[in-house]
Amino acid sequence: MKEFSVLRSSAQLICIGSGSLSKRGSEMRSLDVIPDGAVVISDDRIHWVGRTSDLPPIPPDTEIIDARGKVVLPGFIDSHTHLVFAGSREDEFEQRLQGRTYEEIAAGGGGINATVQQVRRGSKEELKAATRRRLERMLSFGVTTVEIKSGYGLTLADELKCLEAIAELNQEGPWELVPTFLGAHAVPPEFQGNREGYLRLLVDEMLPEVSRSRLAEFCDIFCERGAFTLEESQRVLKRACELGMKVKVHADEFSSSGGTELAAQWRAVSADHLLCITDAGIEALMGSGTVATLLPGTAFFLGLNYAPARRLIAAGLPVALASDCNPGTCPSENLPLIGTLACTQMKMLPAEVVTALTLNAAAALDRSQRLGSIEVGKQADLIVCDVPDYRQLFYHFGVSHVWRVIKRGRVVYTA
Ligand code: NIG
Ligand code: FE
Repeated sequence: MKEFSVLRSSAQLICIGSGSLSKRGSEMRSLDVIPDGAVVISDDRIHWVGRTSDLPPIPPDTEIIDARGKVVLPGFIDSHTHLVFAGSREDEFEQRLQGRTYEEIAAGGGGINATVQQVRRGSKEELKAATRRRLERMLSFGVTTVEIKSGYGLTLADELKCLEAIAELNQEGPWELVPTFLGAHAVPPEFQGNREGYLRLLVDEMLPEVSRSRLAEFCDIFCERGAFTLEESQRVLKRACELGMKVKVHADEFSSSGGTELAAQWRAVSADHLLCITDAGIEALMGSGTVATLLPGTAFFLGLNYAPARRLIAAGLPVALASDCNPGTCPSENLPLIGTLACTQMKMLPAEVVTALTLNAAAALDRSQRLGSIEVGKQADLIVCDVPDYRQLFYHFGVSHVWRVIKRGRVVYTA
């Protein structure tokens, strides 16, 4: 028998939907807000959406959630994280405060490779325990779906260890995890001076095995000076596409490296960072279907210039926002705070931020058929926030306003 529950009397029900798989440009401002809104949930799906006064008759023992004075939204989706890591890098944080740059620290053996040493030493169970704590924190901020990249193992065995940790945590739930293989994150220490050796390992051994194991849905690459060149990135993406993996690109983060154009060329599901995107990069994204994913927490934490969100939106692109949560460039699980940074630093409007954290983030994970909006037939991933107006989510910043989190139709978090 079907199990029903009803969420009723919300001050604002933020639907986002209207049937589209992403919102581009000026469409990002239209949220489809229903005052005094209600949702009927049937099992794990959204069964009915409308005003509370129009609710259809409901069976007598239906669970009712009274959202009076509160805002209901689709669960937030964090479409870019590096959540499986061990240790921390506050030493580098302090060095940067004294003038060293992220790239200098990385070139000196710190950065990604500092975390790689710690991840290699850690067991899968230790990695899972550390990642579970981060996921619990994310859930308390209303995040119901999280993409997680590998990329701190950088041997086949250590990358598989991280991807298995993601798969097992996904089984545990209540969150939904999306695994991405990021073997092309950095050249590991044992291959310094032998980049070709690492690329061969990536292309000839790691990618085929990761693809065979089905432990990763996407393949990502850090295309950047000091990481992987355009040509090296081409090789990795070509192989990933041959193996049937969907791709993503860390593009134009510290320099204009052509990564965005590369992402468009390979029909990447998303191109991420884009701090140094050029006009040619914007042009390449137009018509590519690639989602522009911005990570303002990283610019904030490293003291860099922000991505040109207004220009991307004006160009009619679908823009998503994500945390980039990682131990080097953005150690924070607070996705609504990322929304505040998008408002104050990139001049995105709160409505655009909501779209970027829900429907467009789902599109950045190729999941917007099922997630990212409150529409009949979609999965019932909803959050109820204890604010009367959605704009307060980013205006009253740094704290969680989340009152209930519903994942697949069930309450999985109560504040
Ligand atoms: O997205 N850019 C590459 N990767 C991360 C940084 C990872 C780290 O420093 O550990 C990022 O910013
Ligand atoms: Fe990243």
